[in-house]
Parts: sequence; structure tokens; C-alpha cells
Amino acid sequence: VRKIIIDTDPGQDDAVAILLALASPDEVEVLGITCVAGNVPLDLTTRNARMVCELAGRRDIKVYAGCDRPLDRDLVTAEHVHGKTGLDGPDLPEPTMPVEDTHAVDFIIETLRQESAGTVTLVPIGPLTNIATAFRKAPDITRNVREIVLMGGAYFEVGNITPAAEFNIHVDPQAAEVVFRSGAPIVVMPLDVTHKALVTRVRNDAFRAIGNRVGVAVAEMTDFFERYDREKYGSDGAPLHDPCTIAYLIRPELFSGRKINVEIETRSELTMGMTVADWWGVTDRAPNALFIGDVDADGFFDLLTERLARL
Ligand code: BDR
Ligand code: CA
Repeated sequence: VRKIIIDTDPGQDDAVAILLALASPDEVEVLGITCVAGNVPLDLTTRNARMVCELAGRRDIKVYAGCDRPLDRDLVTAEHVHGKTGLDGPDLPEPTMPVEDTHAVDFIIETLRQESAGTVTLVPIGPLTNIATAFRKAPDITRNVREIVLMGGAYFEVGNITPAAEFNIHVDPQAAEVVFRSGAPIVVMPLDVTHKALVTRVRNDAFRAIGNRVGVAVAEMTDFFERYDREKYGSDGAPLHDPCTIAYLIRPELFSGRKINVEIETRSELTMGMTVADWWGVTDRAPNALFIGDVDADGFFDLLTERLARL
């Protein structure tokens, strides 16, 4: 069982990632959920994370509030994609479980120091502010990280928040640079992959047909979330970006990619947060990430549907 910390800014796709993890205790143990500002401001991402835990019947999960703004830039949010609350769609009750007193960054540092070296995997599915802040504050912890499996960036698919950049990296490029230069092993789920994990009508019906509260809520989340992508890109349903990270931890054979060098653009306003991915190996820069390029989408949705039925 892999011990993981999910670092997140829910977001409907973040919510599904959390649900997939909580439904998969044989493969992943969620040590905590750390929240960051991203899709919506921090108070809402912290609220949404707790709503999702309660939806899964897991009030015992520890939820931490982290950084409320990027390291060096103003916060950019994505209400145009996720709605005013960040989790528009289902009508879920306000959460009553507590937010932990410890700051998310301190929880990350303490956990990586307490657990045996090389046993904790970080799963960042929002801007990388919390992770970078922890690495800066406690550089010793980077060598204790087993792996960072993150959603962010793009290569052939280029950008979704600007023509050149993917949202999570664009919101905090300085933080992304800290993480990509940390030396910790990194797996990247870029838009190239997540735009293949589309909730088509048939897949959405399959969620609803599970018949439990979670299945219906996930179908309602994707009903809301897909509007943006259908209108904007003419895509065949909502891309489930963030759950790709958890699916990779459960069934890595569903994914394929290349070990390559990835650098982050932090200077040009035009291309701020672009992931400059050396997919073709045209430089001699050392590889620092496994950059995923493809997913068995049917296998991914079969796994997801089967797991959500367990909740
Ligand atoms: C990423 O940005 C957010 O809107 C999603 O939750 C996902 O993490 C996709 O670019
Ligand atoms: Ca996210």
C-alpha cells in the first residue's frame, strides 16, 4: 500500500481523484489532504475537500489548509470552468468535519520527516505552492519523497489557461520550477493524457447507473464540468485530469510515457508557466520526469467506475 498525501484545489476532477483514492485502500493510504488556492480561493478548496470526504463517508480523513496565494504572483482562479464554488453541480451538504490546526506545509514537512524515507508519495493536483513552500522551508525532505505524481503541464496539447500554459503550472510557475528542480522522482500527467480521459455520455451514464450517492454526485459533477470543454474545444465530454494521477498509482500499466527533461517558463509573460518538455530529446539536459503521453481510456474508466461503486 502506497502512503500518499493529496495536495489539491477541488475542483470537480480533484473531487473524483479524492474519491478514487478513498475507494482504493488496498493500493493507497491517504495520510492527509492538503488544500491550496487554485481553481477557487483557499477557503473554498478547503470546504470542498471536506465535502468530498463526507460524501465518501470518511470524516476521519485529515484535511489541512495551505497556501492562499502563489509564491510570487497574484492568484488566477478558474470559476469559468468549475463554477462559483469550485464544485458546482451536485447539491452536497455543507461540511461539518474540522480543518486541522496544522498548516498544510508543516504537515507535509512533518510527515516526510516522520515516515521512513522513500515511503511517502506526493500527489499534487493543483498549483504546486504548498509542495514548493515545504521544499524551500525544509530542503532535507526532498530526498525522503518516494515519488511525486502530479497533474500539470502539456506538450502537444499546449495550453488551457493561456495559449502556452496549463492551469496548475501557470498559476504558480515559480513553485513548479522548485518542484521540477528538486531532484525528487516525478511523474507528470499533462493535458496530452488528460484530454484523452473524457467523460462521454456513455461513461457519465455508467457513473449514474452505479446507483450509490457517490455515483450520482460524480455524474452531476461531470455534467457541470463538461459544459466548458464541450463549448470551448468541442470535446466529447469533461476531461478527468486529476484522477489520472491516482489511477496511475493503482494501475500504472494503463499509462505510457517517456523519461525526459522538463523545464518551466518563469520569465516571459506571454508563455508564463509553459512546460518546456524535451519529448524528442533534442537537448542534452538530464531527464527529470516521466512525462506521460498516453492512457488506455476505457481501462481507466472501467477502473474508476468499479472503484466508485465501492463507496
Ligand atoms: C487542472 O486545472 C484544474 O482546473 C483542474 O482541477 C486540473 O487540476 C487542469 O488543467
Ligand atoms: Ca485540480
